[in-house]
Amino acid sequence: MAARMAQGDRGRFSALRSATAPLVAVAVAIAVAPACSGNHHILSPEGKQAKSIALIAWFMFISAGAVTLLVFAALLHGMFRRHRTTRRGEPRRFVVGEQTWIIAGGVALPLVFIGILTAMSLHGLPSEAKPDAVAITVVGHQYWWEVQYPGLGVTTAEEIHVPVGRDVDVTLLSDDVIHSFWVPDLAGKIDMIPGQTNHLTLHADKAGTYRGQCAEFCGLQHANMIFFVVADEPSTFDAWVRSESGAAPAPAPGTPAADGAIAFQELPCASCHTIKGTAANGTAGPDLTHFANRSTIGAGTVPNTPGYLGGWIADAQSTKPGSLMPPIPMRPDQLNALLAYLGTLK
Ligand code: CUA
Repeated sequence: MAARMAQGDRGRFSALRSATAPLVAVAVAIAVAPACSGNHHILSPEGKQAKSIALIAWFMFISAGAVTLLVFAALLHGMFRRHRTTRRGEPRRFVVGEQTWIIAGGVALPLVFIGILTAMSLHGLPSEAKPDAVAITVVGHQYWWEVQYPGLGVTTAEEIHVPVGRDVDVTLLSDDVIHSFWVPDLAGKIDMIPGQTNHLTLHADKAGTYRGQCAEFCGLQHANMIFFVVADEPSTFDAWVRSESGAAPAPAPGTPAADGAIAFQELPCASCHTIKGTAANGTAGPDLTHFANRSTIGAGTVPNTPGYLGGWIADAQSTKPGSLMPPIPMRPDQLNALLAYLGTLK
């Protein structure tokens, strides 16, 4: 008898141990989640739409946690409550309120939660941009982002400057396959589909640089299809537009940069890239008019430094295999001149 009881207790305690593991995991996750750091901050958003998404995430996480705790509490109660018997020594059946539990827990509670979640989701749907919104067109390419400001005469790539506190109406297009535009800190994601025009309203509440990522597998370099949304104070944004809308000053004659400008036209560079104010007007690759102002090369693949840039120009395939920029054979003096020239494109 005693042995059987001990065996029963052991069974209960091993069940208790296996039940505690998930609870501890949940508690640790709750404690650690807000402290997480990284490129994207879904749980500490800085944009209107991302905030409502984060609210839904927290609501689901907390209510799922509460339900888990309730289930485990009921389980523990069932494991440890004393067996009750009737006067005749038969086990007493638990009959009171069985149906009530099923209807409340299985029908009413899910309906309430689904109702709340539906309302929150509808409220969080992307809203139409306000009339004073900045209009930006972003075109997805394998594997980079073309960024146009149609009303402002700016064309750039990978870095999208926006003013803080103002709506930005982003028109999303694709040049080849399906990509997906996602800046987790600011908004939800939306696909860029060839032949279809999609819109997303961005609204940054705080100045800063927010990393974006292509969120639809689009080929070999999908993971290296990164972009940045730079939210500027309005005056900084206006200054940026003024500087980006014109051409960069031409390099002084006789300097290495001037040789680079010539090399750029002689080599195949100009047939794929545009540099405003010069004869280079290719559209297969990113516009390089103000390339030196950008922080990365190859859509976030490597930092924009002379070392990485030299490697990129000579053989982009070694940095970003599968990108559409072919290796370009050139003399070392041409490469150095190109580096000097590209460094002046501010
Ligand atoms: Cu573009 Cu994935």
